[in-house]
Amino acid sequence: MKVLALETSCDDTGVALLDRDRGILASVLASQVEIHTLFGGVVPELAARRHLETLLPLTNQVLKEGGTSLEEVDCLGVTVKPGLVPSLLVGLSFAKALAFGVNKPLIGVDHLEAHTFAHFLHEEIPFPFLSLVVSGGHTSLFLVKELGEMYIVGQTRDDAAGEAFDKIAKLLHLGYPGGPVIDKTAREGNPYAVKLPRPMLSGSWDFSFSGLKTAVVQHVKRSPLDINDGKAVADMAASFQMAVVEVLVEKTVMAAQHYGIPRIVVSGGVAANSSLRSHMKERAEHEGLQVFFPPPELCSDNAAMVAYVAGYRFARGERHSPDLDVASRSNYSRYEP
Ligand code: KG4
Ligand code: ZN
Repeated sequence: MKVLALETSCDDTGVALLDRDRGILASVLASQVEIHTLFGGVVPELAARRHLETLLPLTNQVLKEGGTSLEEVDCLGVTVKPGLVPSLLVGLSFAKALAFGVNKPLIGVDHLEAHTFAHFLHEEIPFPFLSLVVSGGHTSLFLVKELGEMYIVGQTRDDAAGEAFDKIAKLLHLGYPGGPVIDKTAREGNPYAVKLPRPMLSGSWDFSFSGLKTAVVQHVKRSPLDINDGKAVADMAASFQMAVVEVLVEKTVMAAQHYGIPRIVVSGGVAANSSLRSHMKERAEHEGLQVFFPPPELCSDNAAMVAYVAGYRFARGERHSPDLDVASRSNYSRYEP
């Protein structure tokens, strides 16, 4: 069964073709980084206009690479929430036009569910598991009972983990997006050089990263950092990264133990972070928990993960009506054991 899927929830345009038996036939991603860098953040209208320009050529490219015509596709999938509404609307309208044109079913997909199941493109994992989605827009911990049944265990009360990486990278004049460059810079630094808080929010599985960001800003104000001093910048990057990583690892492992869930899946752009990958694995395995990270290229936004969820839902008989709409937020319930 072949699924063509589109991902336009934020500033990357993704299109992918998945064969449920053979794997990913083609998957492309057009980054808009050069547009939004000028503004220091994503400008929703510009993002939507760029999706409009790129969706058709990317779709043609994916169908060609995948050696498939639109008529041979069994169903279409598209991200409908959460995200920037103008971007989501462009993706959904385009998907509806394609689906209507060739009379194929269209399945709307939640972006956080898609991240959660990205690892399944590579390897299936038994249920239940804890899913930590860490990206530029989200830091959410879910308990996943099966595809379509996931509950919030914890989420960020302010900044997302990736957002914190991006802001600190800006402060250190390292460029955008901040995650990959902090990851690289931190390799040369001492993660315990600068003492930073570990915001754990006791009594809750929620996260908070804005205090950590403020602590870095205050530290830089107190002892000004020479951005040309490579060692000082690397020490700050490494110390900040270690603070984020320790909080993510400790809270996730503690939640898994608390709820008696033996498996953890980490996804989203920040899941590509080398320190998070090694520390989470070491700590979780020490506690007898299994931990899974998708390959780095499936961590950040992509349409293959959307195709996976759409195909799974289609295979079990789900169909979405033509009045399918978008939403800026997801509507998951809190987990209540
Ligand atoms: O999942 P994603 O591509 O898009 C969203 O849904 O937000 O995540 C993008 C985020 C950015 O904030 C970026 O800085 C962060 O993921 N990121 C990383 C790394 N690679 C990307 N953060 C830390 N370490 C990385 N290696
Ligand atoms: Zn994402």
